[in-house]
Amino acid sequence: MSEEIIVVRGNGTLKGEVSVAGAKNSALKLMAAALLGRGQSVIHNVPLISDIAIMGEVLERLGAQVEREGHTLRIDTAPVDSFKTPYELVSKMRASISVLGPLIGRFGQAHVAMPGGCQIGARKIDMHLVGLEALGVKFDVAHGDLIATTPDGLHGAHVMLNFPSVGATENLLMAAVAAEGVTVIENAAREPEIEDLANMLVSMGARVSGAGTSIIEVEGVPSESLHPCEHTTVGDRIEAGTFLVGGALMGGPVTVRGIDPSFLRMAIFKLRAMGCEVETGQDWVRVERTKPLVATEIQTLPHPGFPTDLQAQFMLLAARAEGVSVITENVFENRFMFAAELSRMGADISIEDHHAIVRGVSRLQGAPVSSTDLRAGAALVLAGIDAEGETRVHEIRHIDRGYEDYVGKLASLGADVSRTSVSA
Ligand code: UD1
Repeated sequence: MSEEIIVVRGNGTLKGEVSVAGAKNSALKLMAAALLGRGQSVIHNVPLISDIAIMGEVLERLGAQVEREGHTLRIDTAPVDSFKTPYELVSKMRASISVLGPLIGRFGQAHVAMPGGCQIGARKIDMHLVGLEALGVKFDVAHGDLIATTPDGLHGAHVMLNFPSVGATENLLMAAVAAEGVTVIENAAREPEIEDLANMLVSMGARVSGAGTSIIEVEGVPSESLHPCEHTTVGDRIEAGTFLVGGALMGGPVTVRGIDPSFLRMAIFKLRAMGCEVETGQDWVRVERTKPLVATEIQTLPHPGFPTDLQAQFMLLAARAEGVSVITENVFENRFMFAAELSRMGADISIEDHHAIVRGVSRLQGAPVSSTDLRAGAALVLAGIDAEGETRVHEIRHIDRGYEDYVGKLASLGADVSRTSVSA
């Protein structure tokens, strides 16, 4: 058996320009939303990553035709004649659960296996279910599958989420667009990807206002009136943030293109607080650092707070900063597995409940390490570029889930990184 790994020889170099792909977390939901417009929707700026391929399979299993040409996907959902999503796909990718809302919107029923995905905390779906129940959906669980029906039809409702869950907001939104009457989602997630989804739904004929704020209002339309559309995915703020951290760690300058800087306000604020110079333009951000990194405090929170998906990358920065940083993870339980891997490279991190105390060290050393999830994997490669000697990053399938050509992009910025097969 052979395994593909990433080999990094630490040369401390990342300099130049890089363009980010479309946002994974947007494109996945836009693909699911295509189920609502019976016919061929066209989605541009879709990243070439394995999670997107899985979502393509999910849609094909439902009967859709999915064609890819470069970064454009053509999804014909006219032939969709099934509302069942099997375990072998949902267990590979938790975001498969986002077909639940559009299937309910279109068919009034859905049959979706219970999700798996990244091992970061419990990742429950109770809020998806409670919200959809308020819209008239009945749920049963049979043999690991979630069976949704709408015996009395789908109707608008006032839903207050306990927490601004991204996935619950999206599922509710995609069901509510085809419900009878008005739905109000209070304490809705405000991530830019929610706004992107709402924009696509509006161009399909849905009536949605307030997306991007914590109160979203949806006036339902008959599901048959929703039509296909053409839409371009927003840039990936987490991929952008990852390269900015790379630039900050190595000194840069690194310019990241294809991203609206307003999506990254909190991350940019923290980069500056840690001693970096950051410049922004309409669709680019540049980072440079000429002074030592300084310690900081970070608390992950729902958008516009500091994103949990950049927590590992900033933990790496903190590991090399002067002083003691405290990083608090509020969004997911159990999202500090990265700390143990980084400690293998010489970082000094102790975990106390949902706080990480990071004492900066003057160097990291190359070591064999394992990606524990996709963001941790990306951060370990950056750590390797900064470290002395060779770092071998295992379990890189996690990185491939969310980063298009990560190694190629880092190499174009001067890093000494390559993929290679080794016997497992
Ligand atoms: C999405 C993103 C993920 C990001 C996260 C938070 C995708 C494919 N993934 O995940 O990259 O890290 O947002 O920004 O878009 N929760 C419940 N019950 C629920 C729903 C959520 O308890 O019904 C909890 C989760 O266990 C977690 C927290 O709420 O602790 C946040 O989850 P949520 O915002 O729903 O994240 P995802 O949509 O899963």
